[in-house]
Amino acid sequence: MPFVGRVHELKTLLALLAEADPSVIVLHGMSGVGKTRLVVESARRHHERSGGNVAFVDFRVDPVANLVQLGRSLQIERAQDEKLQDFALRVLGHAPSQPTLLVYNDVPDPEGLSPWLPPHPAFRVLVTTTYAHWPAHYRLHEVPGMPDGDADALIRAIIRNSSVAERVGGDVRTRGRGITVQIVADATAADYATRHGRMPVLPPIAAGPKAASNGPGHCSTTTPGRSFAWRRSSRRATRRSTCPETY
Ligand SMILES: Nc1ncnc2c1ncn2[C@@H]1O[C@H](COP(=O)(O)OP(=O)(O)OP(=O)(O)O)[C@@H](O)[C@H]1O
Ligand SMILES: [Mg+2]
Repeated sequence: MPFVGRVHELKTLLALLAEADPSVIVLHGMSGVGKTRLVVESARRHHERSGGNVAFVDFRVDPVANLVQLGRSLQIERAQDEKLQDFALRVLGHAPSQPTLLVYNDVPDPEGLSPWLPPHPAFRVLVTTTYAHWPAHYRLHEVPGMPDGDADALIRAIIRNSSVAERVGGDVRTRGRGITVQIVADATAADYATRHGRMPVLPPIAAGPKAASNGPGHCSTTTPGRSFAWRRSSRRATRRSTCPETY
């Protein structure tokens, strides 16, 4: 699927990446809002404009695997008995021969990031996270919900039958409330149904407390640090987190 819209966000990120200041850029926002797609697109455009290397490091599992890969591509030798984690950390201590943008995807929080901050300024770091409260020395940028015009374009890119897109597009957009993962899921289901000769039907949004002002998540306690159930009704998923540091 082509990258759609997000003109303002792309402009802001490309401007931040063009700054000489090597501080870490942190993109935070609600789960599924479109952070990863946005950083990948920004990194691609930055690379086209300015060259250098880009490495994607996924924190959803463990950053070690991607950093070991990076070490290999930078032709850094791993010592015979060296543990993978030690090697990964040593890669970050190496001065790369050209500017290298590290895209750190889905970093849990500042503590999870700190061991992986490269000491060398030739590395730039661009983080995505759902954690909202980062210390001020990071360059923070909040990714808002996808604007309506972009959401409509995304829906039209997915639902191939234009009259179906016209008919159900408004409902898909309203139901998605700017959360791209939801918009993509509903539009894909509508497209699939249409291509199989069925009427696209959107399941009703589960009843529950009204969504928080910044999106469909809600916090069931206001006690800082207290565990709470975060429910995205549209995904029918509940996950544990702490409140109110995460979305
Ligand atoms: N601008 C866009 N153009 C096209 N597709 C998009 C765009 N933004 C997001 N998407 C799609 O929406 C879905 C969710 O986006 P993405 O994975 O980037 O969200 P996220 O905020 O990183 O989610 P999470 O918090 O779970 O990591 C993906 O399928 C992605 O390809
Ligand atoms: Mg992501």
